[in-house]
Amino acid sequence: MEVGTLKNLSGKNALLTGGSRGLGPYIGRALAREGVNMALTARSEADLRTVADELAQMGVKAKALPADITDAASRTQLLERVRDEFGGIDILINNAGIERLSLYTSLSPEFIETMIQTNLAAPLLLTRLLLPEMMRQGSGHVVTISSLGGKKGSPYTATYAATKAGLIKWTWGLRQELRETGVSASVICPGFVAEAGMFAVYKKRAPGIVGETTPEKVADAVIRSIRRDVGETIVNPGPIRPMMVLDALHPGIGTWMLRTFGVYDFYRRQSEENEGELRSE
Ligand SMILES: NC(=O)c1ccc[n+]([C@@H]2O[C@H](COP(=O)([O-])OP(=O)(O)OC[C@H]3O[C@@H](n4cnc5c(N)ncnc54)[C@H](OP(=O)(O)O)[C@@H]3O)[C@@H](O)[C@H]2O)c1
Repeated sequence: MEVGTLKNLSGKNALLTGGSRGLGPYIGRALAREGVNMALTARSEADLRTVADELAQMGVKAKALPADITDAASRTQLLERVRDEFGGIDILINNAGIERLSLYTSLSPEFIETMIQTNLAAPLLLTRLLLPEMMRQGSGHVVTISSLGGKKGSPYTATYAATKAGLIKWTWGLRQELRETGVSASVICPGFVAEAGMFAVYKKRAPGIVGETTPEKVADAVIRSIRRDVGETIVNPGPIRPMMVLDALHPGIGTWMLRTFGVYDFYRRQSEENEGELRSE
């Protein structure tokens, strides 16, 4: 086997976090189509079961294993259940995440902590629990879903950006450490995803300069990053790559473009709506 690549996915076992809704079921379906057995986790047991039943009908083994990934005991129990049901895990997809568009000072300290735990600490710690096993078996892949938001901090989403930027840097560091072990790590950075997930619930069109992608494209990127061992994949249409090159040369340029083309206004309006909803609850 070529080091760091799992070319034939059929018969492998994957653990997918955030499997209950949003992008998770799309990633689960894409892996199941490749013949990958799926351990699905999230907190909502009924939703997880629905997704697991659908994947099982595609001919793979699929189990709903509810867990709160921010809780250390819950993570350990999850992995025990995964080992009981599947033996070992070849692929970990760190997909679960939370976001809340809001003024930074409107977020409670507790919520900031929860976001850091869910988006950043939990994937790192879950991976820490699984990696030794993958390294012993000399093969495996960890795919982490970050965000375009992690490439450039934006107003009203600063904490989310911090967690997602952390995932990108962590993946690149880990990936170099894992060279020659047969295990690898990839990170996916989707932009605004239409049709399903945390952006789609707003039922808004994304600002034109950034555009929208689809959950299927994110799922395809997951498969490609495992097969071809791709370090980082941006899943987004439009002129985002040249904009990022310009921004790397001079960070003020990206900020100016995002502000000028209405991205920050979009975040501000949505954050005001969110805060209005929170006040009326
Ligand atoms: N949708 C987008 O536009 C977009 C763009 C860029 C990046 N992303 C990233 O893509 C990933 C998936 O997002 P999504 O859009 O599918 O979000 P979503 O629809 O809100 O789904 C989030 C998933 O994470 C799970 N989750 C949240 N907290 C959890 C916890 N403490 N323990 C276990 N599971 C937990 C949720 O299940 P329960 O609530 O049942 O636990 C759910 O399955 C996230 O990392 C997100 O940051 C999304």
